[in-house]
Formats: sequence, structure tokens, C-alpha cells
Amino acid sequence: MAIVPNPHKTTGVLGWIDDRFPLTKLWKDHLTEYYAPKNFNFWYYFGSLALLVLVNQLLTGIFLTMHYKPDAAQAWHSVEYIMRDVPWGNVIRYLHSTGASAFFIVVYLHMYRGLMYGSYRKPRELIWVFGCLIFLCLMAEAFAGYVLPWGQMSYWGAQVIISLFGAIPVIGPDLVIWIQGDYIPSDATLNRLFSLHVIAIPFVLVGLVVAHLIALHEVGSNNPDGVEIKKHKDPATGIPLDGIGFHPYYTVKDLVGVGVFLMIFLGVVFFAPDGGGYFLERPNFQEANPLVTPEHITPAWYFGAFYAILRAIPDKLMGVIGMGAAVVIFFALPWLDRSKVKSIRYKGWMFKTALALFTIAFVLLSYFGMQPPSEIGTLISRIGTFVYFAFFLLMPIYSKLDKTKPEPERVTYEAH
Ligand code: HEM
Repeated sequence: MAIVPNPHKTTGVLGWIDDRFPLTKLWKDHLTEYYAPKNFNFWYYFGSLALLVLVNQLLTGIFLTMHYKPDAAQAWHSVEYIMRDVPWGNVIRYLHSTGASAFFIVVYLHMYRGLMYGSYRKPRELIWVFGCLIFLCLMAEAFAGYVLPWGQMSYWGAQVIISLFGAIPVIGPDLVIWIQGDYIPSDATLNRLFSLHVIAIPFVLVGLVVAHLIALHEVGSNNPDGVEIKKHKDPATGIPLDGIGFHPYYTVKDLVGVGVFLMIFLGVVFFAPDGGGYFLERPNFQEANPLVTPEHITPAWYFGAFYAILRAIPDKLMGVIGMGAAVVIFFALPWLDRSKVKSIRYKGWMFKTALALFTIAFVLLSYFGMQPPSEIGTLISRIGTFVYFAFFLLMPIYSKLDKTKPEPERVTYEAH
């Protein structure tokens, strides 16, 4: 059968491929002729950095899996073996364990950019929803991975989190046994968390990241001004007047971000891989012992805020519901914000104050979630929980009442 020549008129090997597979078309549609707003700033580094950290986790994870043993009697020792005997094993492990914290730092900043510039608003609701699903997966992935070294915090952290399901009325206690595959966290628990961590969740995660980017390329990026660049196109070429080709302009810009990120990230990996006890917690340098509870069971820093919300609510079931709601409420954001403008640049004092209070509450909750329970910690966590939910639930009101400035027609490019 005759082949219809490709419309890009490429020849040679590329032409042969293009006649059979849309290589040049994909390259143009998603890179050279994918037009992104020309006014991206610092906050736009974190999407490409999230991709970089994802790749780092996948690659280092593959090499760790080659030497790790998912067996309660051997897991701890296999990690020690990786650290001491496997060539470069310590670097691979630290790239992965510090990488987990880096992932959350990058993703939290990436989400924060969305909050500032209203990137979740129409027509980007699905980009946001896919992002929230990614965040859920990331939390599950981090929890499962944390259990694998079978240290004291792995074990007792698993015990605390899985036992939360016990708060569900009627089925709770049986559900806990079903999830654990035993009456306490044990070999069966470790095996299933390994399976989830290494294949099931990463598979879903990568699929969601692809969906996130497909949705992004369908509607195009937002920008720090929150104006739609597709509204003003060059009549002759159809190219947005405020757009520039993603490649080479943003590939080069993102490479700067990658360089700076790697300097900081590798500095931590090489010189302080445990992040002062925050990236790898001290009790996790001891093997799991079901007979000895650590003095304080605290979550990894990135779960601190959600754990503080759990502890701030006196009733266990309500606490679990509150903690779940604190994550799920992010999905509703596109429909809670009623402001006339997207970007914080043109929003009024009400939104700015609300976001500032939310930021302070999130940081305080994260801090107190990692501390042993105390009276002052509980009080601050309760106020923090109130502010956290008020930010979302009152948004339909204050975002509507807020006095906004008029959005410009075109992006206001200034050198940053
Ligand atoms: C593995 C995790 C993630 C990866 C690899 C990822 C990747 C990306 C990339 C490459 C971009 C385009 C570049 C940029 O705008 O910075 C982007 C945009 C975006 N992402 Fe993510 N993302 C992740 C997680 C999330 C999460 C958790 C959320 C929110 C809950 C989110 C919300 C958004 C939004 C709203 C945009 C559009 C931003 C705009 O146009 O202003 N992403 N993402």
C-alpha cells in the first residue's frame, strides 16, 4: 500500500519515521511550536523540577530494588548491605530517601504557585484535579516507601497510620487486620507495601503525570498575570502575541533551574543526607522492634500538617475525617474561588490576607505535627486547623467581596 508523505516534508531517516509515526509533529506540537506565556517567573521552575525528581525516584528506586529484600527478617539488613557493601549503594539510597523530601518540597512550591496565580481556575480545572490525584498518590507512595527499611519509625509509623482505619465504625477493626494481613504490622504487611510502592502506585503516578501534561498542553499554561494569551493571536500566523516557543526558550530557562536545584539537592545528599533528622528520622537508624515503642512517634515532615489536624480533633473518627478532608478539599478549589481575576497581583487585601494566614497555619501545623504532644501545640494546632479550613470554606465569600484591580489585556513582562 502506498504511504501518504508526511506534511512536514522531512526526508532521510526522519522522513521515513515521520511517514509512519508523528515524531516531527509531536516535537513541534509539544516543544518548538507549543507557545507558553513569555512572562514565566521563578515559580514556574517547579513543574519541570517535579519531573526531574520523579525520574530520580524511579531510577534510584530500580537500583535499590535490585538489592533490597522485602522480608521482615531481612529488610533492615538488606538496607544496611546497600549502605555498606553495594558499590555506590549509599549514594543511591540517599538520592532516593532525600529525593522523597525534595519531591514534597518541589510539589508544595508547585501547588503554591497554583494558589498564587489561580492556575486552578477555568479552563485549567482538570490540570488541577489531576495534580490533586498526583498529590494523593505521592502521599501513599511516600508512606509505603517509608515502611520498607523496617526501622523503628517505619514499623511504628505503619502501626499508627494503619490503625487509623480502625476508627471506621463497624468494619474498622476487621479492616485493619485485612490491610495488615496480620494482627500487627508484619511480614505480610511489608510485602504488600513493597508491591504497592514498587509497581502499583508508580504506575498510576506516571499515568497521572502524563494526563496532567496532556491537559496542560490542551489549554496552555497560565502565567503570573493570570491573563489568557490565546485571546491575542497574530492574525497572520495564529501564534499568541505573548507566547514564545517552549523549546528553546523554556528548555534553556528550566535548565538553569535544574542546575541550581542539583547544586542544592546534591549538597544535601552528600553532606547532610538525613536533613538533620527531618529527611531520615533518628529512630529509623534502629531495626524495627514490635516490643519497644519509640518515645515519640512522629510522621515525616511532609505529613506534619495533616497529622497535626488529626491530633487537634479530640474524637478519633472525626480526626481521621478531618485529616482526609484537609487533603480532599484541594480538589474543590476551582469551584470555591469566585474572584473576577486569577492572579494574586490583581486580587485585593482579603485574598492576600487569607493566603498569608493559610501559609502561616500550614507551616505551624507542619511544625507541631512533628513535635510530641503538648498543651501549646494542641492549642496552636486547633487554631491552625480552623484557619486551614476557613481559607477554603470561606473562599466563595471573601473572593467575591474582595476589591480586585483590573486585569491587563496583555501580559506585563518585566525582567525579574
Ligand atoms: C509528580 C508531580 C507533578 C509533576 C511532575 C508536575 C508537572 C507539571 C509541569 C511540567 C507543569 C508545567 C510547568 C509549570 O507550569 O510549572 C505543570 C503545571 C501545573 N501543575 Fe503540575 N505537576 C505535578 C504535581 C502537581 C500537583 C500536586 C498539582 C496541584 C494539586 C499541580 C498543579 C499544576 C497546575 C495548576 C499547573 C498549571 C500551572 C499554570 O499554568 O500556571 N501539579 N505541572
